[in-house]
Amino acid sequence: MRALILAAGLGTRFKSERAKVLHTIMNKPMLWYVYQTIKGINIKEVAVVVGHQSEEVKKVFEGEEGLLFFHQKNPKGGTADAVLSAIDFWRDYQGYLLVINGDTPLVKAQTIKNMQRYIHLVEEYEGVRLSALLLSSFFPDPTGYGRIVKDPKGNVVKIVEEKDATPEEKQIKEINGGVYLFYCHHLLEVIFSIPPSQASGELYLTEAIGLMSKKGYLIRSFMAEEQAEVMGVNNRWELSIAENVIRLRILEKLSKEGNTIHQPETVWIEPSVVLEGDVEIEPGVAITKNSVLGRGVRVGRGSVVENSVLEEGVIVEPYSIIRDSKVKKGAIVGPFAHLRNQSVIGEGSHIGNFVEVKASSVGKKVNAKHLAYIGDALIGDRTNVGAGVVFANYDGKRKHQSHVGENVFIGSNSLIIAPIQLGSYSYIAGGSVINKNVEEGDLAIARAEMKVLKGKGKEKLT
Ligand code: UD1
Ligand code: MG
Repeated sequence: MRALILAAGLGTRFKSERAKVLHTIMNKPMLWYVYQTIKGINIKEVAVVVGHQSEEVKKVFEGEEGLLFFHQKNPKGGTADAVLSAIDFWRDYQGYLLVINGDTPLVKAQTIKNMQRYIHLVEEYEGVRLSALLLSSFFPDPTGYGRIVKDPKGNVVKIVEEKDATPEEKQIKEINGGVYLFYCHHLLEVIFSIPPSQASGELYLTEAIGLMSKKGYLIRSFMAEEQAEVMGVNNRWELSIAENVIRLRILEKLSKEGNTIHQPETVWIEPSVVLEGDVEIEPGVAITKNSVLGRGVRVGRGSVVENSVLEEGVIVEPYSIIRDSKVKKGAIVGPFAHLRNQSVIGEGSHIGNFVEVKASSVGKKVNAKHLAYIGDALIGDRTNVGAGVVFANYDGKRKHQSHVGENVFIGSNSLIIAPIQLGSYSYIAGGSVINKNVEEGDLAIARAEMKVLKGKGKEKLT
């Protein structure tokens, strides 16, 4: 079998500058899901018809090998015109061509495999070759879809598009899902005879079905297991609905693999995220891009983990944001913490409330539990960063690094002005402004000396 994806259309109903098939579902273009389905069937020969914004559309397949692209000159030519644009791909092929609309992201690989099997079964037990098999479903409200018209024996006679349907035909609830298996020879016999639609001037692929049937060829429809599979995404609300279906499918899979998702209707986990098991996700959490969460990780309510690695046993307390960073085994982050720009938090460390860590590497068992900014710093094991400590890494022009050794104590409300080095076992007294290096084992105190004026307080207040 060969597969042809139709992705040349404008997507007028999206009212968008961007081609419809590039609009994203869980951060991946809608078209990416169609391609994943095809990969899941293990079809080796795959072609894509591109037209509108073809260069951007091709980028969806970057890094994929062996794909062919065909260019549809008129992206308003219609779905049959799209299939004709790729005629060199299938004209001489002695088998079936899977044609799949690029706006059908919910169809499952297993369903298409079942369609293939059905064709073989019909061949084997009925002794006939199907000229086409269409994926269909019954929709209580079929508005907008092509309706499948059948003869009394249940074979498909034609597909009528909404615009051309008679009132009786509009009553038909079985709809065309935009996923077809065509026997190439028979498709070739009819495709040049498709007339332009009276309503739009487009060449409809669905017309091929009626023409095949008139020739006496056998066409059947194949019921999708899940109704959602045949949903076409034609406007942004349908995009939201499709996204919800995919989101819940991802969460269902992850939970069956042994992860707990609390209140799944509020959780967002993208398809490339890995949860290694026994992970617990609280409501309102978003985990995106290539994040990996090790065994036993717990992510608290309202947190965002983007493109980050959380090793085994990490706890992210509520309302924390972790971007492009790594948190090592058993560390605790949050509540209300913010890690970003390739920061690394060492094993067993604790980054607490209102602490921001940017482009810094923090060693093992470091505590920075309250109200601190750690930017461009290397911090050794077992160091304590007190409440309100700020690493001043920016002089107005450039960023500078701070190097902090092991077992350092940085007292509350100190200002550490980079570039600077604080040796291991150094001690910074609270409230200090540190702008010179402090060597190993030394104590630095840099603040105005305290004065006490006897009785002056009461004098001022009375
Ligand atoms: C199509 C079917 C309809 C079916 C529905 C299922 C036709 C005529 N109608 O309608 O029976 O119920 O899908 O979702 O096929 N495209 C091109 N070139 C074009 C036009 C479209 O490549 O000239 C691509 C689009 O990018 C899209 C796909 O074909 O991915 C389907 O086109 P769309 O306009 O969405 O067709 P529907 O009106 O949804
Ligand atoms: Mg459509």
